[in-house]
Amino acid sequence: MTLPLRTPDGLPVEVPDYTLLHLSDTHLTSAGVLYNQRVDADLALDRAVVEIRRAIGNGHQFDALVVSGDLTDTGDPEAYRRLAGMLEPLNIPVIWCNGNHDVRTTYHRELLGDEEGSTDSKIQFHWVGADLGLRVIVLDSTVPDAGHGYLDPRLPESFAPILARPAPGGTIVVLHHSPLPPPSPLLSYFALDRRSRQTLFTTIAGADVRLILSGHHHMAQSGMLGSVPVVVAGSTAIRTDPFARPGHERTTSSASMNLIRIYPDTYTCSVIPLDGADEVFDLDEAQCAGIIDRHPI
Ligand SMILES: [Fe+2]
Ligand SMILES: [Fe+2]
Repeated sequence: MTLPLRTPDGLPVEVPDYTLLHLSDTHLTSAGVLYNQRVDADLALDRAVVEIRRAIGNGHQFDALVVSGDLTDTGDPEAYRRLAGMLEPLNIPVIWCNGNHDVRTTYHRELLGDEEGSTDSKIQFHWVGADLGLRVIVLDSTVPDAGHGYLDPRLPESFAPILARPAPGGTIVVLHHSPLPPPSPLLSYFALDRRSRQTLFTTIAGADVRLILSGHHHMAQSGMLGSVPVVVAGSTAIRTDPFARPGHERTTSSASMNLIRIYPDTYTCSVIPLDGADEVFDLDEAQCAGIIDRHPI
């Protein structure tokens, strides 16, 4: 039985044009090594995979799966292969972005098909959705052998001709280092430097960028860069404690991923905790219809 979804005003139910999964900071380690000596990062990521498979089994569809950096903890080639081996069989187009814990050359070789393993940073362009109308631009905000983030000040100039042509469904920018104030002392030091934040602001000013997706902060966050929303996905392995004692960098073994839905005139970000939770209710269509029928408008 499939009942039409109903709304209070009788208008059609809103349907997103594009649906994305956003994972970050998977930090897969070398075999036999625990992340921060405590967390099996593969096992933690598998909780996300199980949840995504459950969604697919329930009929949900996704246009892309964005993974916004710190894919591995130390750049072990085998960890990249394990990561691809876990996510690519989901049959959702995967968009990879590297983070400060990744090794750029290995990332290029293992995930971007660059057999040379180029040392230069890459900018990726993806076209997403059934109509291939959503443009996703992936920037590399990393500095080899450093933790902080940086963007080339020539970015606005080089992007001007590209962004001058709007995409049918708009544009999403992905980078590892979030252009938002970080939540903790170490992340403040390893932040996207303030001039690079300004560079990003200038690059996208007036363009069709609808959303910026990032990671690095190990906690779900949202904010704005000018008039453009910024969404940070939490890590699939650990979570930063924003209530730690002053000067402390504290994390817990908590994880999440984000569900991003892009509508014609807005977007939503739903944070999906991956810590396990007991079911409270699961009403079927007939039960939902019964409740609706008891509440006439
Ligand atoms: Fe990270
Ligand atoms: Fe990071």
